[in-house]
Amino acid sequence: MIKFRVNGKGHSFDGDMDMPLLWYLREDADMKGTKFGCGIGECGACTVHMGDVAVRSCSVPMSALDGGEITTIEGLAQKSRLHAVQQAWIDEDVAQCGYCQAGQVMATAAFLKEYPTPTDADIDENLSNLCRCGTYYRMRKAIHRAAR
Ligand code: FES
Repeated sequence: MIKFRVNGKGHSFDGDMDMPLLWYLREDADMKGTKFGCGIGECGACTVHMGDVAVRSCSVPMSALDGGEITTIEGLAQKSRLHAVQQAWIDEDVAQCGYCQAGQVMATAAFLKEYPTPTDADIDENLSNLCRCGTYYRMRKAIHRAAR
């Protein structure tokens, strides 16, 4: 049996420890905001935070979670106030189909903790989530807006 927290709430699990965290979030915890894209750690649609670090939840086994603190897109806003990245995404009208955007927002929120005033080069080097609609230009504007 492992215990961990998701968005500040206690969770426990004693099933298949090789199961990906993404499966747990979507199926066991019924949190559908974190998306399945590739399932092999390549696209970033499933990005959540473990502590302050962005991870691809399709590639994190449940065995890695004991004592951990997970934040998903559902827990990023604090009380009724959107996270600065969420607000910037709205202000810059980033989303097109929207499927990858929860992962993009989570990856960006973790990135800005490490790079509070990023350059375009920092963004290019550190953010690798994929967007098949190609909203990269608007995301870049939103990242700079969130960093202000
Ligand atoms: Fe996890 Fe693509 S679904 S990286």
